[in-house]
Amino acid sequence: MLRRPVSEDGASVHRLIGRCPPLDENSIYCNLLQASHFAGTSVAAEVDGELAGFVSGYIIPERPDTLFIWQVAVAEEARGLGLAGRMICEILRRPACTRVRHLETTITPDNDASWALFRGVARKLETACAESVMFDRERHFRGRHDSEMLLRIGPFARAGAQVSAALAR
Ligand SMILES: CC(C)(COP(=O)(O)OP(=O)(O)OC[C@H]1O[C@@H](n2cnc3c(N)ncnc32)[C@H](O)[C@@H]1OP(=O)(O)O)[C@@H](O)C(=O)NCCC(=O)NCCS
Repeated sequence: MLRRPVSEDGASVHRLIGRCPPLDENSIYCNLLQASHFAGTSVAAEVDGELAGFVSGYIIPERPDTLFIWQVAVAEEARGLGLAGRMICEILRRPACTRVRHLETTITPDNDASWALFRGVARKLETACAESVMFDRERHFRGRHDSEMLLRIGPFARAGAQVSAALAR
């Protein structure tokens, strides 16, 4: 079941992220904020009453046509079933995304699953996909983290239910 998160999900999100390397772990407080202030652009996936997936996202404050996907996590036992794609689709059909025409995320160069996931989203939306460096290994992370590549998908002209129909194909 896919649903809008509630603040009580924060601690489970923290545990799920800890089980999904290479994702960076944030504080529980950060996950509580994702599950409350950012609930409209985030999604929780439950399987047998347990949190099996979570996507955090937000509308970039100065660019209301752009949804930024912060983290995507799917528990190991639930992978390969299309859950990550369905969660992104669920966010795009929400009222909060009515004006959204671009999707952005960052991915480390060696995260094959994540590249495949987001390139698949661009393909299904029949739109372009541009890559650049957003946070550089040396300049931003002082050598302590791989560079984070910005992937910008769009524009997609359709909105809401039409986007979700395209992604479901
Ligand atoms: C990345 C992740 C969220 C994918 O979740 P998932 O539910 O298994 O993904 P989906 O089943 O929706 O697959 C989406 C696409 O990715 C592809 N894919 C999934 N896992 C893959 C892998 N390990 N290697 C290559 N491609 C992969 C699928 O074939 C599918 O491609 P398609 O659309 O062309 O058919 C999951 O592997 C995960 O949680 N990984 C650890 C955390 C992480 O790296 N998150 C992403 C960074 S934000």
